[in-house]
Amino acid sequence: MRILVAITGASGALYAQRLLDNLDPAHHEIHVVLSNYAHVVLQQELPAGLKLRPTVKTHGLKSMSVPFASGSNPFDVMVVIPCSMGTLGRIAHGISEDVLLRAADVMLKERRKLILVPRETPLSLVHLKNLELLLLAGATILPANPSFYTLPQTVEQVADTVVARVLDHIGVPQTLVQRWQEERD
Ligand SMILES: Cc1cc2nc3c(=O)[nH]c(=O)nc-3n(C[C@H](O)[C@H](O)[C@H](O)COP(=O)(O)O)c2cc1C
Repeated sequence: MRILVAITGASGALYAQRLLDNLDPAHHEIHVVLSNYAHVVLQQELPAGLKLRPTVKTHGLKSMSVPFASGSNPFDVMVVIPCSMGTLGRIAHGISEDVLLRAADVMLKERRKLILVPRETPLSLVHLKNLELLLLAGATILPANPSFYTLPQTVEQVADTVVARVLDHIGVPQTLVQRWQEERD
């Protein structure tokens, strides 16, 4: 699969890191793009920086000379993780002024899989209306709401309860988190 992982300035950089840790570039073509503000939050939340495997391709925000900026060459999946309400609102309203936003716009118009992982609380009516619009436009809204029934013991394990659902929706087999009522050897 060709997968674009977009990271924005919402809290939850660890979700992006754990997703990238669990997408194997030997099996998939992985591309990464960061919003301007993502760099600030990353510095705060992942002081050692984002760890990327060597074959993962990173892109700047400005140049539209990337395959996923055109509907003629769309990717299989784009995940915005974590997704700020600012980026979410811009995507909902078709504002495609940079590569990240344009890529999301392309995914919607080409009816490809766009997975948004918003992180904000509480939610305003503006947020909810934007979420409704995106759902109607075909996006998958997968909020960064961890679960606890698997008794996660570390922060990474808590984050993985969200990342496992993202991997499920991408369509990548995952054994990160035991499924409810699943028997394991
Ligand atoms: C430490 C920190 C945490 C933030 N967490 C969130 C958040 O969880 N959700 C959100 O929507 N915005 C959050 N913000 C605000 C966004 O970073 C801000 O709206 C920014 O303009 C988003 O830009 P972007 O969408 O281009 O990344 C946070 C900002 C800071 C500094």
